[in-house]
Amino acid sequence: MTKLIGISGALRKGSTNTGLLRALQSLLPAHVTMEIATLHGIPLFDEDVIAATGKPEVVTALADRIRHADGIIIATPEYQFSVPGVLKNANDWLSTCNAPFKWKRTGVVGASAGAMAGTARAQYHLRQNLQALQAIVMPRPEIMIVHNERKFDSDGNLTDTETRERLQTWLDAFLEWVEKKP
Ligand SMILES: Cc1cc2nc3c(=O)[nH]c(=O)nc-3n(C[C@H](O)[C@H](O)[C@H](O)COP(=O)(O)O)c2cc1C
Repeated sequence: MTKLIGISGALRKGSTNTGLLRALQSLLPAHVTMEIATLHGIPLFDEDVIAATGKPEVVTALADRIRHADGIIIATPEYQFSVPGVLKNANDWLSTCNAPFKWKRTGVVGASAGAMAGTARAQYHLRQNLQALQAIVMPRPEIMIVHNERKFDSDGNLTDTETRERLQTWLDAFLEWVEKKP
């Protein structure tokens, strides 16, 4: 069995990035499982909180889930040409939890609105951030989905056949990379 965890950088219910993770879930072979973790409930990073009450349970639980996964897939939206604060904030917290990402095979995906960069800028900032966390990020293939407004419904479910095929190609490469450790 191969165990993956998917993390979405978006909190909204109809998020296309969370939908991207659900679409990946639907494409997994039988021997692979993927839980989707939410970043809901993670407070703003504050060292005074650690000093006063320790690390929030929501953070330590996420760190443990990452630690016990064979691979991690992060779906990031792009906000102001970068990673959403919610995701950066979570990574700042996770960096205080004994390196849960250390040497973890990690994939980065993302979907954004319009014809712009399909989250390319956010993905590259996230890759830099993950380097600090000691994750091993799959170099290629990349998947950057433009025009998410045409490819997902209002609940964030993927409806576009060509995107689903591209996702399958990306997932096959990711699983080979996670499982064979070439
Ligand atoms: C605060 C904010 C900033 C955004 N900045 C960008 C941006 O820099 N580049 C981009 O392609 N889309 C940007 N968008 C549009 C997002 O691509 C779009 O809202 C996308 O659907 C968000 O992902 P989600 O569907 O997972 O919530 C921005 C949206 C918000 C709310």
